[in-house]
Amino acid sequence: MNKEQNTFRNHLAQTTPFPFGIKVKYAKGSYIYDENDQAYLDFISGIGVSSLGHGNEAVNSAIKNQVDKHLHVMVYGEFEQEAQNQLAEELMLVLPPELDAFYFVNSGTEANEAALKLAKRATGRTELIAFKGSYHGSTHGSLSVSYNEIKKIPFRPLLPDVSFIQLNFWDDLEKITKKTAAVILETIQGDAGVRIPNELYLKALSKKCKETGTLLILDEIQCGMGRTGKMWAFEHYGIQPDILTSGKALGAGMPIGALICSRQLMAKFSYNPMLGHITTFGGHPVVCAAAAAGLKFTRENHLLESVQSKAELIHQLLVHEKIKEVRHKGLMFAIELESEEKVKEIVLKSLENGLILFWFLSTPNAFRLAPPLTISEEEIRKACQIILDLL
Ligand SMILES: Cc1ncc(COP(=O)(O)O)c(C=O)c1O
Repeated sequence: MNKEQNTFRNHLAQTTPFPFGIKVKYAKGSYIYDENDQAYLDFISGIGVSSLGHGNEAVNSAIKNQVDKHLHVMVYGEFEQEAQNQLAEELMLVLPPELDAFYFVNSGTEANEAALKLAKRATGRTELIAFKGSYHGSTHGSLSVSYNEIKKIPFRPLLPDVSFIQLNFWDDLEKITKKTAAVILETIQGDAGVRIPNELYLKALSKKCKETGTLLILDEIQCGMGRTGKMWAFEHYGIQPDILTSGKALGAGMPIGALICSRQLMAKFSYNPMLGHITTFGGHPVVCAAAAAGLKFTRENHLLESVQSKAELIHQLLVHEKIKEVRHKGLMFAIELESEEKVKEIVLKSLENGLILFWFLSTPNAFRLAPPLTISEEEIRKACQIILDLL
């Protein structure tokens, strides 16, 4: 082990005993390059983050431009900053008019924390309903509304008054009552292994929330920002959340989360108590400049238009007797194999063959695909061929 490997292994926090450990030299387009200039085709995008591919020039130049103007100047909300305004304006172009207020934070889990707090503050209720299979983040509040018990046990007690219902199971909607502050749902469940809701069910869920005065929080941290072929996954279903959370790809490679709702609802954070939610670094100008540039690039280059055909190509190519099921919405894929062992083998061997795939936290017999939305047909064919050869 050389000095740098020692630092990585022994002095940077490890989250598993078997990190991929590629030593990244640079990244460009759909590829990440290691210290020996070996290219790895990125079919994961840092788990749905680098949707524009790596090294997007418009994003890089917005970052450099902002760096020369100013970095952090004040805690969130006190000063008017052009980069935050630009991001808000870009977001308003791609959201329904009712969702017109933005609280920028630093990560997805922070956006969900803020959403849960806002729902409690706005309704005066405490009960939260989440979904079996959900993943909303790793901090205490988000973990409380995430389902995987193995990941929660050592950290209990978590938030009280949380219960879980089953996606697409109509009878469970009865559990949403006038005591419920919020229902939180990933519009397309990611960590559950890409689980897709039924349209009529989602409409009934939305109706039930309205009838009971419950706020519907849609977590689109993973499935939003064009991943499913529409800017927001809820657009596939003819419903709208009261609160939308975003993150991951929103930052175009920089760390961000966003709580999105109506101005009236957001205003609740400014009284009773004042400063109901605060953050030092949320809405960092360099991050907001990158995010605004990423949204503009997506819009001007009509990136979402090709998502569906690229997804169909992957679906067509990945046919093999060892593939038990392919679930996807746009370019958010779960490929289910016969066993956890087979998944491990394919993911690790793909890496050796220059293709980056990744696992789910809670769905061991499937691996995920989330390539950049800018992926080319040739790159898709190459990746699928590697997977098929290994199978
Ligand atoms: C659906 C969903 N919500 C929330 C999060 C948490 O986001 P972050 O890791 O930025 O805190 C994730 C991360 O994977 C996610 O997939």
